[in-house]
Amino acid sequence: MSLLEVKDVNQYYGGSHILRNVNLSAALGQVTVVLGRNGVGKTTLLKSLMGLVPIKSGSITLDGVPIEKTTPYERARMGVGFVPQGREIFGRLTVEENLQMGLAYKKGGTPIPAELFELFPVLKQMLGRRGGDLSGGQQQQLAIARALAAGPK
Ligand SMILES: Nc1ncnc2c1ncn2[C@@H]1O[C@H](COP(=O)(O)OP(=O)(O)OP(=O)(O)O)[C@@H](O)[C@H]1O
Ligand SMILES: [Mg+2]
Repeated sequence: MSLLEVKDVNQYYGGSHILRNVNLSAALGQVTVVLGRNGVGKTTLLKSLMGLVPIKSGSITLDGVPIEKTTPYERARMGVGFVPQGREIFGRLTVEENLQMGLAYKKGGTPIPAELFELFPVLKQMLGRRGGDLSGGQQQQLAIARALAAGPK
């Protein structure tokens, strides 16, 4: 079975039917891509997978476990990572604190994985800088690193 299975998911914003019977499966160790024109619902689908917006019907399973009724923080603990389209880093926290936010559900004092700084060396140079003072692309690196920090599946 795939790591992630999405079956017949429907989602609405008010009266607007955004996701219509969406089906998707994603296997461990593979890259799965969702393509579509602007406004078609890609971000809405990802937010639904993370639990940031509720779905009206359908199921989402991770490793065979239904997750569609769980909260975002529960999904994070189950191994779902999320990089928001708008980055949503914490502008007044430092780069280091932003990365620690990605480890929030781990034991206190869990170190930031060193391989993040191999992927994104600029973050190491800027550990003490405020997130809001990074360039757009550097913030994007930070958002990805924050999502990877806890080792999502
Ligand atoms: N919070 C919201 N409330 C109401 N409608 C919304 C909301 N967010 C998105 N929409 C609408 O839902 C539809 C899907 O938006 P979504 O952001 O999922 O598209 P997308 O595929 O990610 O687009 P893009 O490629 O531009 O990022 C659009 O028609 C959009 O206007
Ligand atoms: Mg989008």
